[in-house]
Amino acid sequence: MAIRLVLIGPPGVGKGTQSKLLSELTGARPLSSGLIFRAEIEADTELGQLAKDYIDHGHLVPNGVTIQMMFKRLRQEETRQKGFILDGFPRTVRQAEALDEELDKEQVTLDGVISLQAPLDVIVHRLTGRLGCTKCGEIYHSVNHPPHREGLCDKCDGFLVVRGDDTPEAIRERLVVFEEATAPVLDYYAATGRLMAIDAGRESDEVGAELKQRLNLTCA
Ligand code: AP5
Ligand code: MG
Repeated sequence: MAIRLVLIGPPGVGKGTQSKLLSELTGARPLSSGLIFRAEIEADTELGQLAKDYIDHGHLVPNGVTIQMMFKRLRQEETRQKGFILDGFPRTVRQAEALDEELDKEQVTLDGVISLQAPLDVIVHRLTGRLGCTKCGEIYHSVNHPPHREGLCDKCDGFLVVRGDDTPEAIRERLVVFEEATAPVLDYYAATGRLMAIDAGRESDEVGAELKQRLNLTCA
């Protein structure tokens, strides 16, 4: 059965890392709003041009275009069939309300909303060492998860780069934006009893194992 999950957490907590593990485990489609925006920027589309300045400064892209962009993917047949793991969306209460309305229309419900949590020093360490593959999006860390060959992706030989918004200034701003705009989304889901808090400050495999157990996942 297709699973539908939302991953929420501050920058660098490991949303992308756990989304990949959960997607491999369940077959559900990973949908990262940040990754989609970065692909639009790379392709120099109208949406990418609009989003770039917001992202580079660590601010949120306006709700309207973000909701439209994510709903386009949620309505695709592939998503309907496989289910989804939303990473980085919803990020405002308005986005969460819009998602609920959309899922109601589709007559489906979320199987879980996962709040990934880790201490600030762990988060900053993760963000400052992150490397991402320009070709396949695989995520590495210079200390926690280094590639076998410096600067090259183990999976596809693509070049590894530091993300444009992983500067100290943008990281600071993203953390502030999380507290102001996204922490209320956790309250929104907690109020309806749908929130599952996970200690994401541990090794990736440990976090993944707890998710697997708490979500009762056995196979794809
Ligand atoms: P987005 O791309 O979503 O960035 P983010 O929320 O800041 O989160 P990150 O991708 O930085 O971190 P992550 O939690 O995925 O961690 P990761 O797994 O990579 O959004 C970027 C921007 O797009 C936003 O700032 C905004 O401008 C815009 N945007 C996106 N969505 C939006 C929305 N809905 N509305 C409006 N604007 C939106 O891990 C980080 C590092 O740690 C990696 O190096 C990894 O290898 C390592 N690591 C991960 N887990 C572990 C572990 N357990 N142990 C050790 N190391 C670990
Ligand atoms: Mg991410």
